[in-house]
Amino acid sequence: MDLQAFFTMSYGLYVVSSVFDGKQNGCIVNTVTQVTAEPPKVSVAVHKQNLTAELIEKSGVFNAVPLTEDATMQMIGLFGFREGRGMEKYANIPFDTDSNGICYPTQSAAALFSCKVIDRLDLDTHLLFVGETVEARRLSDLPVMTYAYYHAVKKGKTPPKASSYIPISK
Ligand SMILES: Cc1cc2nc3c(=O)[nH]c(=O)nc-3n(C[C@H](O)[C@H](O)[C@H](O)COP(=O)(O)O)c2cc1C
Repeated sequence: MDLQAFFTMSYGLYVVSSVFDGKQNGCIVNTVTQVTAEPPKVSVAVHKQNLTAELIEKSGVFNAVPLTEDATMQMIGLFGFREGRGMEKYANIPFDTDSNGICYPTQSAAALFSCKVIDRLDLDTHLLFVGETVEARRLSDLPVMTYAYYHAVKKGKTPPKASSYIPISK
């Protein structure tokens, strides 16, 4: 199989967050996709070992924020390379709270989608959550960061728990 072929797929970069029992957390994903229009539903694939997956499983709600191109590597590092168990990712960044009581970043945020989980598929390493959108709002008109921009311009890396991870040697 030519794993390089997967590099032709396009994505955005999102912070997906959830809350359960007072614990707020979020992580970077590139796997948010709108899957239906009426009503608007989105799907997201989250690694089972990520705290964010556990919080979505337990609460049945999540939100997704597409990042804009001005998102710093510091912010992407906080949400995409650090684990929420044992730390509070929202402690030192500007945030607001959606109608489900879930935090979301307000800096470098293009929009807010708040979702209620209506289905879930076990994909071995990841859980695919399907969410019905209960709130959608534009937050900025700046260009959104694509996965390609993250790699080509920001020189960003993709960690092993990402759905699209491809080992360097392949
Ligand atoms: C560019 C990029 C894309 C990522 N895509 C995903 C993804 O689609 N699904 C996922 O579960 N993790 C993805 N990750 C990895 C998580 O963000 C990472 O494992 C994070 O530390 C999990 O945090 P948590 O344990 O606090 O939830 C991605 C990370 C980066 C930097």
